[in-house]
Amino acid sequence: MDRSKLDGLMRPKSIAIVGASTDPTKIGYTVVKNIIEGGYEGKIYPINPKATELLGLKVYPTLMDVPDDIDAAVITVPAKLVISVVEDAGKKGVKGLIIITSGFAESGNRKLEQEVVAKAQEYGVRILGPNIVGTLSNAEKLNASFAPTLPLPGKGALISQSGALLISLDMATFTRKVGFEKLISIGNMSDIDFADLVEWLDEDESVSSISLYIEGFKDGRKFMDVAKKAKKPVIALKAGVSAHGAVAAASHTGSLAGAAKVYGAAFQQAGVVQATDLNNLFDLSLTLSLQPPMYGDNLVIITNGGGVGVLATDAAERFGLPLKFVPKDVQEELKKHMPEFGSAKNPVDLTGMAGYDWYYDTVKFVIAHAWTEGLVILYCETAMTDPMEIAKGIIVALDEANVHGKPVTISFVGGEKSEKAMQWLVEQNIPSFSAPDLAVHAISALREYARMKEIVSESDHQTIPVDKEQALRIIKLAREDGRDSLTEVEAKQVFAAYGLPTTTTLLAKSEDEAVKLAKEIGFPIVMKIVSPDILHKSDAGGVKVNIKDVTSCREAFKTIMANAKEYKADANIHGIAIQEMAPWGTEVILGSVNDATFGPTMMFGLGGIFVEILKDVTFRVAPVSKNSALRMIGEIRGAPILAGVRGEEPRDREMLAETISRYAQMIVDLQDDVSESDANPVLVYAEGKGLKVVDARIILKKK
Ligand code: ACO
Repeated sequence: MDRSKLDGLMRPKSIAIVGASTDPTKIGYTVVKNIIEGGYEGKIYPINPKATELLGLKVYPTLMDVPDDIDAAVITVPAKLVISVVEDAGKKGVKGLIIITSGFAESGNRKLEQEVVAKAQEYGVRILGPNIVGTLSNAEKLNASFAPTLPLPGKGALISQSGALLISLDMATFTRKVGFEKLISIGNMSDIDFADLVEWLDEDESVSSISLYIEGFKDGRKFMDVAKKAKKPVIALKAGVSAHGAVAAASHTGSLAGAAKVYGAAFQQAGVVQATDLNNLFDLSLTLSLQPPMYGDNLVIITNGGGVGVLATDAAERFGLPLKFVPKDVQEELKKHMPEFGSAKNPVDLTGMAGYDWYYDTVKFVIAHAWTEGLVILYCETAMTDPMEIAKGIIVALDEANVHGKPVTISFVGGEKSEKAMQWLVEQNIPSFSAPDLAVHAISALREYARMKEIVSESDHQTIPVDKEQALRIIKLAREDGRDSLTEVEAKQVFAAYGLPTTTTLLAKSEDEAVKLAKEIGFPIVMKIVSPDILHKSDAGGVKVNIKDVTSCREAFKTIMANAKEYKADANIHGIAIQEMAPWGTEVILGSVNDATFGPTMMFGLGGIFVEILKDVTFRVAPVSKNSALRMIGEIRGAPILAGVRGEEPRDREMLAETISRYAQMIVDLQDDVSESDANPVLVYAEGKGLKVVDARIILKKK
């Protein structure tokens, strides 16, 4: 990325406002006023063909009339006039445009937006917006927006796809007492998108965390590539994940792959911390901008109250950081700083008698001890102690311990005095919260961030020997037949080309052929209808299992054909699949969708007929390495079933991981053709005994 253009846009030495107005009710007036009142120290050039002076500044008729260079221009003229302003800006050498104007793609006017972008690209001008509130930076003292004021200063940046939300969050920085260095409204993302800004902010010294409010990406993979490389924490709140409006899907995987799952997988793979709601976005932005990642699971909680200690312990388990007792030597030392009725185990309960000294002693000792990897300090306001004194004891202890790389979060529960003490603690760079579970949630995000970053550093790219040509030939034949789905027999052939172990499945067109093939495969067998018009074979009475001899085979052939015709009289029937009857194994599902934002995406979970009820599935944007596949196997709720429970032998997870990885390779290779697919059920056998894909479905992209 050419940073110079974004530097000009985000850190301009001079700024013009095209559409500056002398009318105080207009946005063009407010932006000029905000830039002045924000304290901007660069040059300001209001542009308006009719006015000569505005708020003490000389007004120029056009950008071309300004005698000096201009780095950035805010545009507040109506949509139809924007293109001519872009032309002027290009000629003038403006580096970036902040287009506040609405009335483009968001209201169906895509063509006009494309024309504006094309014009800007002609001159190499970058565009933020259109349809935005603007951009605000405390470091630049620049409020180039129509939001009322610069936010409370902080160390994080917040990029929002919703303009109205950005304005309201700007105000909320004061009431919530969580500051931001930058607020950026991104709007229609006609040119500059989330990925561009994350990449730019990652090198910007004034911010130390990057928070995003996302409604949807245009290019999910581009974002993932940038986020994976980011050195600063990226935090995302994704809106619009409810099932409402979801598109009907043809496969199990399609119906389970909602935005929440796919975005969630992408964030995890890219090392992006997910916020659960707006409050949590603020909390995480504060925490990740002030504290280092937590590199291990050893969390210590110090408290003066049993109640908040228990609440924090519960929260630690809920957020994936279950507490362990501290080692004996730590307990012995801690006992010296508490009454006999205290507890030195973990939570470390100093009791309600704890004042400055006990907090100071324990915090200093615990943070410096090699066992500790993260520390949560809790305090309940009492009549015996002063919150500010406690806060000071903590800060002096942390300063003197001078330990780096171990995060600390705090919760003071109490009244105004506690509030004040916490504000002061935040000013000392320690995230502090009004409830113990919030402090634990915050530190668990630092742990999660460290875990994800470790995984992100592994590559998912690999080379697996496969027969892509064979898979494409099968797809081509189906297309020539006028179909946009493969039959089970064909789908299994595609799977086999990628080395997935499938049950032997042969197509019989007549009763005699069925008997011949059944003998070849060997009884018992399974028989299934093969028709592109009958996707749900069992519902149509099109499946017979455990057929043990020739007579039953002939009978089954007749029954299945009759059932299929009754189910759909005009169904195009290819014949009946004669299939090896696989022995029982643990049922899992592998599947894929070609997600509109992230492309080929893989699903794995517990399979069989209950898959859509239990929804015990997990997703990854493909490709998926064998290591990632092993993590997928370990993270479903049913993982213990595969690990072997109650005397059951563990299942062949190595082979399963290999199969998931191959499947993921298949959907990457065939992404131009395959829209959704399922292997369900896949029967997984005991360790070393492999697995078998019993049923297969591949839906093609419509061409
Ligand atoms: N160069 C410079 N100035 C010009 C030019 C030009 N070529 N042509 C016109 N102007 C001046 C106008 O004369 C006017 O100034 P004046 O008051 O002195 O006459 C000024 O530019 C503004 O033009 P108007 O026609 O008065 O437009 P108005 O201010 O009513 O609206 C605006 C313009 C604000 C851009 C409007 O079209 C718009 O898009 N509003 C929505 C903006 C928005 O909400 N964006 C964020 C969305 S996110 C959220 O929901 C919060």
